[in-house]
Amino acid sequence: MDFRLTEEQEMIRDMVREFAEKEIKPKAAYYDETEEFPLETLTKLAELGLMGMNIPHEYGGSNVGTIAHSLAITEIAKGCAATAVTTSVTNMVAEVIYEFGTEEVKSKHLPKICSGEYPAGSFALTEPQAGSDAANLRATAVRDGDYYVINGQKTLITSGEHAGVTVVWAVTDKEAKKGKGISAFVVEQGTPGFIVGKNEEKMGQRASTTNDLFFEQCRIPKENLLGEEGDGFKISMMELDGGRIGIASLALGLGYAAIDYAAEYAKEREQFGQAIANFQAIQWMVADSYTELDAAQLLVLRAAFLKDNRLPFTKEASMAKLFTSETARKVTIRAIQILGGYGYTKEYPVERYHRDVIVTTLYEGTSEIQRHVIARSILGRKLGVYR
Ligand code: CAA
Repeated sequence: MDFRLTEEQEMIRDMVREFAEKEIKPKAAYYDETEEFPLETLTKLAELGLMGMNIPHEYGGSNVGTIAHSLAITEIAKGCAATAVTTSVTNMVAEVIYEFGTEEVKSKHLPKICSGEYPAGSFALTEPQAGSDAANLRATAVRDGDYYVINGQKTLITSGEHAGVTVVWAVTDKEAKKGKGISAFVVEQGTPGFIVGKNEEKMGQRASTTNDLFFEQCRIPKENLLGEEGDGFKISMMELDGGRIGIASLALGLGYAAIDYAAEYAKEREQFGQAIANFQAIQWMVADSYTELDAAQLLVLRAAFLKDNRLPFTKEASMAKLFTSETARKVTIRAIQILGGYGYTKEYPVERYHRDVIVTTLYEGTSEIQRHVIARSILGRKLGVYR
């Protein structure tokens, strides 16, 4: 077992760390305050090769693998979580198109995602009644000659209003058993009948957009089907396994950003005639936080390693997301505690890290869903049969 990163992985991590420190972090409070979409930053990240990190060069990707992707997302998140989630989801969308798209669809969209010509990609699975119960979809796609006609509503879709391309899940066979009659489609921005709805105002990650999407007689070429008809739900689950590594990496970045800030603060802040870093109460919070975050990162990198080596990683990705997001949430609270009353003010960034981290236990599967995925992979798939 070798815990060292390759030279290339170290190089990517260091490059993104430097970029995030100089170009992302200074703007994060502004983006949080204004909710302005960080378009300029995202374009630069695409130029650095960070939008198609698991996409082959022939389609414009950098093809550096999931470990490098994880390291990059962690570093971006230390700067700005809204930028990091947009990057993570865009990479996931590129991957689903690469794995299941026809040659024509891949050649048309992947270079535009990877180059930043598309500001983002979006993953439109969730519907108002289908959140954790993702197979409970109502949107439909009906075949009409060389087209499919999509009708329905999606909700809470990251980057919906900015995505050049959106992957949309819809029911193609209403008679099929739950989860079996769902298909996935590529829909281009601007397709008639594809309507972008409201952007939610959120407590954190405010510069990333979270839209409703409406489909009203939206006609798309039949070639935009990803994989086979009826494979859509499995495709969504497979892609979410990878996406969860991205979200875990993001949570990790927020946890480190918070405790890095608090540890430095503790060395400067004096109370009772000395730096508060001298007090064991503070030291233990710092020690526990780094220990837990390092343990979380090992889970994340294990899942990334398994994915890169095409080994099963569903359970491991869920473990990584569960543990990392919950740990990072705890760590951001400790960071606020170390800063005391100042930690609760907008003058310091730790309150933003905390607001930003909360959604990591919710999106791409709540912590409860991660526990469900982990438990059934240990106890057997059909939970509920034990007495
Ligand atoms: N890989 C491959 N196939 C999988 C799979 C996986 N990880 N998980 C399930 N499947 C397959 C199953 O094998 C099954 O197929 P067979 O019957 O042929 O074996 C089929 O998919 C249906 O699976 P389940 O019976 O397990 O389905 P379920 O209805 O019990 O749901 C669930 C499982 C894990 C609860 C799932 O609904 C889930 O993950 N829910 C959470 C949804 C989620 O994460 N949403 C995030 C939205 S996207 C987002 O947030 C992105 C963003 O913008 C930030």
